[in-house]
Amino acid sequence: MKVVTTRAELADALAAPHRRRAVVMTMGALHEGHLSLVRQARELADQVVVTVFVNPLQFGAGEDLDRYPRNLEGDVAMLADAGAQVVFAPEVSEVYLEQPVVTVSAGAIGERLEGAHRPGHFDGVLTVVLKLCHLVQPDVAVFGQKDAQQLIAVRRMVADLDVGVQVVAAPIVRDTDGVALSSRNAFLDREHRVTARALYSALQAARHAVEDGADGGGARRAAEAVLAAEPGLVVDYVALVDPTTAQDVVAGHRGPALLALAARVGSTRLIDNVMLDLPE
Ligand code: PAJ
Repeated sequence: MKVVTTRAELADALAAPHRRRAVVMTMGALHEGHLSLVRQARELADQVVVTVFVNPLQFGAGEDLDRYPRNLEGDVAMLADAGAQVVFAPEVSEVYLEQPVVTVSAGAIGERLEGAHRPGHFDGVLTVVLKLCHLVQPDVAVFGQKDAQQLIAVRRMVADLDVGVQVVAAPIVRDTDGVALSSRNAFLDREHRVTARALYSALQAARHAVEDGADGGGARRAAEAVLAAEPGLVVDYVALVDPTTAQDVVAGHRGPALLALAARVGSTRLIDNVMLDLPE
Protein backbone atom coordinates (compact mmCIF):
# COMPACT_ATOMS: atom_id res chain seq x y z
CA MET A 1 0.00 0.00 0.00
CA LYS A 2 1.33 3.43 -0.97
CA VAL A 3 0.69 6.46 1.24
CA VAL A 4 0.99 9.69 -0.73
CA THR A 5 0.41 13.33 0.12
CA THR A 6 0.96 15.28 -3.12
CA ARG A 7 -0.86 15.36 -6.45
CA ALA A 8 2.32 14.23 -8.24
CA GLU A 9 2.82 11.24 -5.92
CA LEU A 10 -0.83 10.35 -6.34
CA ALA A 11 -0.54 10.38 -10.14
CA ASP A 12 2.50 8.07 -9.87
CA ALA A 13 0.72 5.65 -7.55
CA LEU A 14 -2.37 5.57 -9.79
CA ALA A 15 -0.23 4.59 -12.77
CA ALA A 16 0.34 1.10 -11.28
CA PRO A 17 -1.25 -1.55 -13.53
CA HIS A 18 -4.92 -2.10 -12.75
CA ARG A 19 -8.20 -2.94 -14.45
CA ARG A 20 -10.67 -0.97 -12.40
CA ARG A 21 -10.21 1.78 -9.79
CA ALA A 22 -12.46 2.49 -6.81
CA VAL A 23 -12.29 5.43 -4.44
CA VAL A 24 -13.45 5.71 -0.84
CA MET A 25 -13.39 9.30 0.38
CA THR A 26 -13.01 9.90 4.12
CA MET A 27 -12.04 12.51 6.68
CA GLY A 28 -9.97 9.98 8.63
CA ALA A 29 -10.32 8.85 12.25
CA LEU A 30 -11.37 5.62 10.60
CA HIS A 31 -13.64 2.98 12.12
CA GLU A 32 -15.37 -0.19 10.97
CA GLY A 33 -17.94 1.87 9.02
CA HIS A 34 -15.22 3.30 6.79
CA LEU A 35 -13.49 -0.07 6.52
CA SER A 36 -16.71 -1.70 5.33
CA LEU A 37 -16.66 0.77 2.42
CA VAL A 38 -13.06 -0.18 1.64
CA ARG A 39 -13.96 -3.87 1.65
CA GLN A 40 -16.90 -3.23 -0.64
CA ALA A 41 -14.59 -1.22 -2.92
CA ARG A 42 -12.18 -4.18 -3.00
CA GLU A 43 -14.96 -6.33 -4.38
CA LEU A 44 -15.68 -3.78 -7.11
CA ALA A 45 -12.15 -2.90 -8.19
CA ASP A 46 -8.56 -4.14 -8.08
CA GLN A 47 -7.11 -0.70 -7.29
CA VAL A 48 -8.68 0.91 -4.22
CA VAL A 49 -7.76 4.50 -3.39
CA VAL A 50 -8.75 5.90 0.00
CA THR A 51 -8.60 9.65 0.51
CA VAL A 52 -8.09 10.98 4.04
CA PHE A 53 -8.77 14.69 4.08
CA VAL A 54 -10.59 16.89 6.59
CA ASN A 55 -12.20 19.29 4.15
CA PRO A 56 -12.40 22.80 5.63
CA LEU A 57 -14.88 23.89 2.96
CA GLN A 58 -17.66 21.73 4.45
CA PHE A 59 -17.31 23.07 8.00
CA GLY A 60 -19.15 26.22 9.03
CA ALA A 61 -17.84 28.88 11.40
CA GLY A 62 -18.10 27.56 14.95
CA GLU A 63 -18.25 23.90 13.83
CA ASP A 64 -15.78 21.26 14.95
CA LEU A 65 -13.10 21.62 12.22
CA ASP A 66 -10.34 22.27 14.75
CA ARG A 67 -11.34 19.50 17.10
CA TYR A 68 -12.28 16.98 14.39
CA PRO A 69 -10.45 13.76 15.43
CA ARG A 70 -7.25 12.98 13.48
CA ASN A 71 -5.13 9.82 13.57
CA LEU A 72 -3.33 9.24 10.26
CA GLU A 73 -0.97 6.63 11.65
CA GLY A 74 -3.84 4.51 12.96
CA ASP A 75 -5.79 5.08 9.74
CA VAL A 76 -2.90 3.87 7.57
CA ALA A 77 -2.52 0.68 9.61
CA MET A 78 -6.24 -0.06 9.31
CA LEU A 79 -6.29 0.64 5.58
CA ALA A 80 -3.31 -1.66 4.91
CA ASP A 81 -5.22 -4.36 6.73
CA ALA A 82 -8.43 -3.72 4.80
CA GLY A 83 -6.60 -4.10 1.48
CA ALA A 84 -6.36 -0.55 0.08
CA GLN A 85 -3.68 0.04 -2.57
CA VAL A 86 -3.27 3.81 -2.25
CA VAL A 87 -3.92 6.28 0.57
CA PHE A 88 -4.05 9.94 -0.45
CA ALA A 89 -3.68 12.12 2.66
CA PRO A 90 -2.97 15.64 1.38
CA GLU A 91 -2.56 18.91 3.26
CA VAL A 92 -5.26 21.53 2.74
CA SER A 93 -2.90 23.59 0.54
CA GLU A 94 -2.38 20.58 -1.77
CA VAL A 95 -6.10 20.21 -2.42
CA TYR A 96 -6.97 23.92 -2.48
CA LEU A 97 -4.07 25.48 -4.37
CA GLU A 98 -5.99 28.72 -3.96
CA GLN A 99 -9.14 29.61 -2.06
CA PRO A 100 -11.78 28.41 -4.57
CA VAL A 101 -13.91 31.04 -6.26
CA VAL A 102 -16.01 28.59 -8.28
CA THR A 103 -17.69 25.85 -6.24
CA VAL A 104 -20.43 23.26 -6.68
CA SER A 105 -23.92 24.04 -5.38
CA ALA A 106 -26.10 21.28 -3.99
CA GLY A 107 -29.15 23.39 -4.88
CA ALA A 108 -32.40 22.50 -3.14
CA ILE A 109 -30.87 19.32 -1.70
CA GLY A 110 -28.39 21.43 0.24
CA GLU A 111 -31.03 23.53 1.92
CA ARG A 112 -32.84 20.72 3.70
CA LEU A 113 -32.17 18.60 6.81
CA GLU A 114 -28.43 18.78 7.53
CA GLY A 115 -28.13 21.67 5.08
CA ALA A 116 -30.71 23.73 6.99
CA HIS A 117 -28.58 23.38 10.13
CA ARG A 118 -25.25 23.64 8.33
CA PRO A 119 -25.54 26.28 5.57
CA GLY A 120 -23.10 25.65 2.74
CA HIS A 121 -22.13 22.23 4.10
CA PHE A 122 -23.18 20.24 1.03
CA ASP A 123 -21.68 22.77 -1.36
CA GLY A 124 -18.38 22.16 0.44
CA VAL A 125 -18.87 18.39 0.33
CA LEU A 126 -19.72 18.33 -3.39
CA THR A 127 -16.86 20.65 -4.27
CA VAL A 128 -14.29 18.39 -2.63
CA VAL A 129 -15.93 15.21 -3.93
CA LEU A 130 -15.74 16.55 -7.48
CA LYS A 131 -12.13 17.68 -7.02
CA LEU A 132 -11.16 14.28 -5.61
CA CYS A 133 -12.94 12.57 -8.52
CA HIS A 134 -10.83 14.63 -10.89
CA LEU A 135 -7.60 13.89 -9.01
CA VAL A 136 -8.27 10.17 -8.52
CA GLN A 137 -10.28 9.46 -11.71
CA PRO A 138 -12.12 6.47 -10.27
CA ASP A 139 -14.44 4.11 -12.13
CA VAL A 140 -16.51 3.66 -8.99
CA ALA A 141 -16.94 5.56 -5.71
CA VAL A 142 -18.37 4.01 -2.55
CA PHE A 143 -20.31 6.18 -0.10
CA GLY A 144 -22.03 5.20 3.16
CA GLN A 145 -25.79 5.23 3.61
CA LYS A 146 -24.99 6.64 7.07
CA ASP A 147 -24.77 10.09 5.46
CA ALA A 148 -27.91 9.59 3.38
CA GLN A 149 -28.32 13.19 2.31
CA GLN A 150 -24.69 13.35 1.22
CA LEU A 151 -25.29 10.27 -0.90
CA ILE A 152 -28.37 11.89 -2.47
CA ALA A 153 -26.40 15.05 -3.26
CA VAL A 154 -23.44 13.12 -4.72
CA ARG A 155 -25.67 10.98 -6.92
CA ARG A 156 -27.43 14.07 -8.20
CA MET A 157 -24.15 15.89 -8.90
CA VAL A 158 -22.80 12.87 -10.77
CA ALA A 159 -25.96 12.79 -12.91
CA ASP A 160 -26.35 16.54 -13.42
CA LEU A 161 -22.68 17.26 -14.14
CA ASP A 162 -21.87 14.03 -16.04
CA VAL A 163 -19.09 13.13 -13.63
CA GLY A 164 -18.76 9.67 -15.16
CA VAL A 165 -18.32 7.74 -11.93
CA GLN A 166 -20.47 4.87 -10.73
CA VAL A 167 -21.76 5.64 -7.22
CA VAL A 168 -22.31 2.67 -4.91
CA ALA A 169 -24.02 2.90 -1.51
CA ALA A 170 -22.83 0.84 1.45
CA PRO A 171 -25.10 -0.03 4.40
CA ILE A 172 -24.83 1.64 7.82
CA VAL A 173 -22.47 -0.15 10.20
CA ARG A 174 -23.64 -0.06 13.83
CA ASP A 175 -22.11 -0.91 17.17
CA THR A 176 -23.64 -3.75 19.22
CA ASP A 177 -25.79 -1.19 21.08
CA GLY A 178 -27.28 0.01 17.77
CA VAL A 179 -25.45 3.34 17.65
CA ALA A 180 -24.22 4.04 14.11
CA LEU A 181 -20.43 4.20 14.01
CA SER A 182 -19.18 7.76 13.62
CA SER A 183 -15.87 9.51 14.16
CA ARG A 184 -17.78 11.97 16.33
CA ASN A 185 -18.81 9.18 18.76
CA ALA A 186 -15.34 9.68 20.25
CA PHE A 187 -16.72 12.88 21.81
CA LEU A 188 -19.43 10.99 23.77
CA ASP A 189 -18.85 10.13 27.42
CA ARG A 190 -20.52 7.04 28.93
CA GLU A 191 -23.75 8.76 29.86
CA HIS A 192 -24.07 10.46 26.46
CA ARG A 193 -23.34 7.19 24.75
CA VAL A 194 -26.35 5.57 26.45
CA THR A 195 -28.49 8.57 25.48
CA ALA A 196 -27.33 8.20 21.86
CA ARG A 197 -29.00 4.79 21.61
CA ALA A 198 -32.35 6.53 21.38
CA LEU A 199 -31.63 7.47 17.75
CA TYR A 200 -31.58 3.85 16.63
CA SER A 201 -34.52 2.98 18.91
CA ALA A 202 -36.49 5.75 17.22
CA LEU A 203 -35.70 4.39 13.75
CA GLN A 204 -36.68 0.90 14.82
CA ALA A 205 -39.95 2.22 16.26
CA ALA A 206 -40.69 3.81 12.89
CA ARG A 207 -39.93 0.58 11.04
CA HIS A 208 -42.13 -1.41 13.39
CA ALA A 209 -44.92 1.14 12.97
CA VAL A 210 -44.80 0.62 9.18
CA GLU A 211 -44.83 -3.16 9.67
CA ASP A 212 -47.93 -2.67 11.81
CA GLY A 213 -49.64 -0.72 9.03
CA ALA A 214 -48.77 2.90 9.83
CA ASP A 215 -48.36 5.39 6.99
CA GLY A 216 -45.43 7.79 6.67
CA GLY A 217 -46.86 10.26 9.18
CA GLY A 218 -47.41 7.47 11.69
CA ALA A 219 -43.86 6.23 11.23
CA ARG A 220 -42.44 9.69 11.80
CA ARG A 221 -44.55 10.23 14.92
CA ALA A 222 -43.42 6.85 16.32
CA ALA A 223 -39.79 7.98 15.94
CA GLU A 224 -40.52 11.41 17.44
CA ALA A 225 -42.17 9.82 20.48
CA VAL A 226 -39.07 7.74 21.26
CA LEU A 227 -36.78 10.76 20.95
CA ALA A 228 -39.08 12.95 23.06
CA ALA A 229 -38.90 10.40 25.88
CA GLU A 230 -35.12 10.86 26.13
CA PRO A 231 -34.45 14.03 28.15
CA GLY A 232 -30.74 14.08 27.28
CA LEU A 233 -31.46 14.66 23.59
CA VAL A 234 -32.12 17.89 21.75
CA VAL A 235 -33.85 16.95 18.48
CA ASP A 236 -32.92 19.00 15.42
CA TYR A 237 -35.26 17.26 12.99
CA VAL A 238 -37.15 14.09 12.20
CA ALA A 239 -38.04 14.07 8.51
CA LEU A 240 -39.53 11.69 6.00
CA VAL A 241 -38.13 12.49 2.57
CA ASP A 242 -37.89 11.25 -0.99
CA PRO A 243 -34.60 9.29 -1.19
CA THR A 244 -33.71 10.87 -4.54
CA THR A 245 -34.43 14.53 -3.78
CA ALA A 246 -34.27 14.91 0.04
CA GLN A 247 -37.59 16.81 -0.14
CA ASP A 248 -40.47 15.93 2.22
CA VAL A 249 -42.77 13.22 0.92
CA VAL A 250 -46.39 14.22 0.52
CA ALA A 251 -49.19 12.74 2.64
CA GLY A 252 -50.24 9.36 1.29
CA HIS A 253 -46.79 8.71 -0.24
CA ARG A 254 -46.12 5.07 -1.08
CA GLY A 255 -42.91 3.20 -1.83
CA PRO A 256 -39.39 4.06 -0.67
CA ALA A 257 -39.01 6.89 1.81
CA LEU A 258 -36.03 7.94 3.90
CA LEU A 259 -36.61 8.67 7.57
CA ALA A 260 -33.72 10.90 8.62
CA LEU A 261 -33.07 12.38 12.03
CA ALA A 262 -30.54 14.54 13.80
CA ALA A 263 -30.17 15.23 17.49
CA ARG A 264 -27.65 16.73 19.84
CA VAL A 265 -26.28 14.88 22.85
CA GLY A 266 -24.35 17.38 24.93
CA SER A 267 -22.33 19.31 22.34
CA THR A 268 -22.16 16.39 19.88
CA ARG A 269 -24.51 16.32 16.92
CA LEU A 270 -25.54 12.86 15.72
CA ILE A 271 -27.42 11.81 12.58
CA ASP A 272 -29.01 8.52 11.62
CA ASN A 273 -31.56 7.23 9.14
CA VAL A 274 -33.51 4.26 7.87
CA MET A 275 -35.08 3.46 4.52
CA LEU A 276 -38.76 2.64 4.82
CA ASP A 277 -40.94 1.03 2.20
CA LEU A 278 -44.39 2.53 2.65
CA PRO A 279 -46.94 -0.02 1.49
CA GLU A 280 -49.93 0.49 -0.81
P1 PAJ B 1 -16.55 10.76 6.71
O1 PAJ B 1 -17.52 11.28 7.70
O2 PAJ B 1 -15.18 10.42 7.16
O3 PAJ B 1 -17.20 9.50 6.02
C1 PAJ B 1 -16.57 8.87 4.95
C2 PAJ B 1 -17.50 7.81 4.37
O4 PAJ B 1 -17.75 6.81 5.36
C3 PAJ B 1 -18.87 8.40 3.98
O5 PAJ B 1 -19.30 7.83 2.74
C4 PAJ B 1 -19.75 7.96 5.13
O6 PAJ B 1 -21.13 7.84 4.78
C5 PAJ B 1 -19.15 6.61 5.46
N1 PAJ B 1 -19.49 6.18 6.82
C6 PAJ B 1 -19.26 6.84 7.99
N2 PAJ B 1 -19.78 6.15 9.03
C7 PAJ B 1 -20.37 5.05 8.52
C8 PAJ B 1 -21.08 3.95 9.09
N3 PAJ B 1 -21.32 3.85 10.39
N4 PAJ B 1 -21.55 3.00 8.24
C9 PAJ B 1 -21.34 3.07 6.90
N5 PAJ B 1 -20.66 4.08 6.31
C10 PAJ B 1 -20.18 5.06 7.10
O7 PAJ B 1 -18.48 11.79 4.67
C11 PAJ B 1 -17.39 12.31 4.75
O8 PAJ B 1 -16.36 11.84 5.52
C12 PAJ B 1 -17.04 13.59 3.95
O9 PAJ B 1 -18.17 14.38 3.82
C13 PAJ B 1 -16.41 13.28 2.56
C14 PAJ B 1 -17.37 12.50 1.65
C15 PAJ B 1 -15.10 12.49 2.72
C16 PAJ B 1 -16.09 14.62 1.85
O10 PAJ B 1 -15.23 15.39 2.61
